Amino acid sequence: MAYSEKVIDHYENPRNVGGFAAGDDTVATGMVGAPACGDVMKLQIKVDPSTGVIEDARFKTYGCGSAIASSSLVTEWVKGKTLEQALAIKNTAIAEELALPPVKIHCSILAEDAIKAAVADYRQRHAGPGGLIE
Ligand code: FES
Ligand code: FES
Repeated sequence: MAYSEKVIDHYENPRNVGGFAAGDDTVATGMVGAPACGDVMKLQIKVDPSTGVIEDARFKTYGCGSAIASSSLVTEWVKGKTLEQALAIKNTAIAEELALPPVKIHCSILAEDAIKAAVADYRQRHAGPGGLIE
């Protein structure tokens, strides 16, 4: 299969690979798997608790080039966004940006799901802007 130039770029120069140091309470983690292929994506966001804005993001993905490119892309997209804005990132926008073919759409869904899981993790544990705990 032919990968788009953007997929190859993110695959060869992935942005924000890795994780944050353990014990940082402002870091939230979303870990999701794709039933279609068994690939796994871990997305971490670091949130400013006073504003609810995502300051930084990291990812680790065990998966195909499209999954790696999708996660690399979303670490760039979520930075500077509120949790609400991050939740509005749709897999269709990821797939369009990376020109993913139909068979690789589920890779972009994995990235959308990882954002949702990371935001849910943050909200479960935090009060204040973006959090659920009053
Ligand atoms: Fe091989 Fe996802 S099934 S990379
Ligand atoms: Fe399954 Fe890409 S092939 S995430």
